[in-house]
Amino acid sequence: VTRPASVALLGAGRLGCALRLALDGASVPVALHWTRSQATAESARAEGFEVEHGPLPPTLAVADVVLLVVSDRAVAPMTAALGASGLLRPGAVVVHHSGAGGLDLLDALPTGVHAASLHPLLSVASRRTALAGAACAVEGGDAETLSRVEGLARRLGLIPFHFDGDRARYHAAACLVGNFPQALLAAAVRLFVEAGLEPARAREALGPLLLSAARNAAERDGGAAFSGPIARGDVDVVERHLRALEAPALDDVEQLYRAAALVTARVVDGPQRHALERLLGVES
Ligand SMILES: NC(=O)c1ccc[n+]([C@@H]2O[C@H](COP(=O)([O-])OP(=O)(O)OC[C@H]3O[C@@H](n4cnc5c(N)ncnc54)[C@H](OP(=O)(O)O)[C@@H]3O)[C@@H](O)[C@H]2O)c1
Repeated sequence: VTRPASVALLGAGRLGCALRLALDGASVPVALHWTRSQATAESARAEGFEVEHGPLPPTLAVADVVLLVVSDRAVAPMTAALGASGLLRPGAVVVHHSGAGGLDLLDALPTGVHAASLHPLLSVASRRTALAGAACAVEGGDAETLSRVEGLARRLGLIPFHFDGDRARYHAAACLVGNFPQALLAAAVRLFVEAGLEPARAREALGPLLLSAARNAAERDGGAAFSGPIARGDVDVVERHLRALEAPALDDVEQLYRAAALVTARVVDGPQRHALERLLGVES
């Protein structure tokens, strides 16, 4: 494992600060933690993070690894600004954390500065989110850069895997799992309310169900992870569900149910699968 002598963190939002905690926890020296605006610096300070703001400080020049933890659309302009600042140390590695973008986001780096990416597969909802145990996709412009970033990821307790395939498909998959549980919960809460429950009660009741289902899905493989009427092939129950969803106000919920039901039907064997697919309007 190559140990970075010193890291500069640019960005003090959710992932920037979560990385700061992980770096401190692993005793990796942080030479600089910076964010552009005073407002973000102040809100990070209020949560206990020592953060600088304003123009890029000269201490950037001591960093061997620069973690560019800014919003996706700011990565390319910030890379250009870093290049123009003349502060990047030759041989340094600049790492972005976007799931959607490839190394081309860092195209404006000066010659002699290496490009890499590290995308944690984790929903980082707050600055104090623990990163350890999450997997992360890593990419490096060359083999040595890749191994430096993999080494850093391991030191932070992350589980790195090299990925340089289809970025859009990779990121769509990460969004399915990382973002859509919230959409599923929101749809189910609406349906509970339509069924006659109070919204607060609906959230209270469905939250633990979502957590138990997520745990099952993550811990069990294949068909064993699926439960409920669709996985059991109970066509008549699914038929009643679809009729109950026939209302203009529930159009999006119906679409969601049908799409998820179709994916679930793939684990059902035998004639029930065909009956389900017919019911859902797809013949295989
Ligand atoms: N949160 C997650 O779950 C998660 C998971 C995996 C990867 N990521 C990636 O991590 C990166 C940061 O995301 P985040 O969730 O930490 O975002 P965030 O909480 O919204 O923080 C955004 C950071 O970007 C800075 N920023 C925004 N626009 C900027 C600009 N034009 N120039 C310079 N700095 C700018 C902000 O600084 P100022 O406000 O001071 O300008 C702030 O420090 C993104 O690439 C994201 O895709 C996030």
